Amino acid sequence: EKGNYRHFMEKEIHDQPEGCQHTIAAYIDPIAGRARMAGDVDFAALDRIQIVACGTSYIAGLVGKYLIEKLADLPVDIEIASEFRYREPALRPGALAIAMSQSGETADTLAALRLCQAKGLKTAAVVNAQESTMAREVDVVWPIHCGPEIGVASTKAFTAQVSVLTALAVAAARARGRIDAAEEQRLVRILLEAPRLIAESIGLEDAVKAVAVDIAKARDVLYLGRGPMSALALEGALKLKEISYIHAEGYAAGELKHGPIALVDEHTPIIVLAPYDSYYEKSASNMSEVMARGGQVVFITDPEGAKHAPAGAKVVMTAPASDPLISPLVMSAPIQLLAYHVAVLKGADVDQPRNLAKSVTVE
Ligand code: F6R
Repeated sequence: EKGNYRHFMEKEIHDQPEGCQHTIAAYIDPIAGRARMAGDVDFAALDRIQIVACGTSYIAGLVGKYLIEKLADLPVDIEIASEFRYREPALRPGALAIAMSQSGETADTLAALRLCQAKGLKTAAVVNAQESTMAREVDVVWPIHCGPEIGVASTKAFTAQVSVLTALAVAAARARGRIDAAEEQRLVRILLEAPRLIAESIGLEDAVKAVAVDIAKARDVLYLGRGPMSALALEGALKLKEISYIHAEGYAAGELKHGPIALVDEHTPIIVLAPYDSYYEKSASNMSEVMARGGQVVFITDPEGAKHAPAGAKVVMTAPASDPLISPLVMSAPIQLLAYHVAVLKGADVDQPRNLAKSVTVE
């Protein structure tokens, strides 16, 4: 049920603090201050992780790659399932294959998973639908517990998938001797803060609505970020494309000079995602470069980032401050809300965008 909301997508964006709380409750022991991943996976013995997925689930996996490699020093390969299944990937049984899928039925992801199984890999699925084909076929199921997602554009499933991979990164870091008990407790405390901070960042909705008026007039929109924010840049662009039908591209900000900067002029809104983290200075300098070429920047940052922001951004949006462990979760709502409000302004069918299906069971 939509309750007081106009669309399922709007409701599902607002459901995220609670959804994330449910997800975290399943993967965190708050008393012991430990992350717990059910199932018999020996993270210390793994050579690597192979993630396969499509669309938004793929982007959640990309965020996971940043966190898992950084915290656990465990190599993560990630590939779009429709590519992976038709090439001849070099797979070894020492790897764990993880399928990311809201529906658990996506044909390409399922085929990629079966390919991994055939090569002798242990398999896991991070899914919402616990009765799904993927959930039935894998060795380990890691449900995302965010409740049914009805809107075709994925929102709460994304943050729930990222939450699971964040817990996984912490659990793997412990298993691999990269963090001690005190550090694990510290990380767990940070993760437990995520639902409250997501709620705060949803509070940016009025500011986002105001920006949406300009974005709705654009022909092309660029999204930029570094590190995990480069993944969120892809997600922001995907959301905008699929529900508002505006052409959008997400780029790792450092790649700008290698082509996309040629697109920048005064008609191109550029959404820059940059919390005040180790990537901030670099992202801020890319932002200055696009502003020097007339680019109209919407800067989504946090209080410290807003304080140090280069002059000239058209709009600065200040999300709550958060540890880099959870900033992908906290920074998601503004880009989801932006796509949503632009689509509403354009009169698009937000929950049923043209040409798209909720579950892609054909290749
Ligand atoms: C985007 C979106 C799609 C899905 C993709 C994978 O908003 O919803 O890109 O993420 O079709 O679907 P699942 O996660 O069900 O495998």
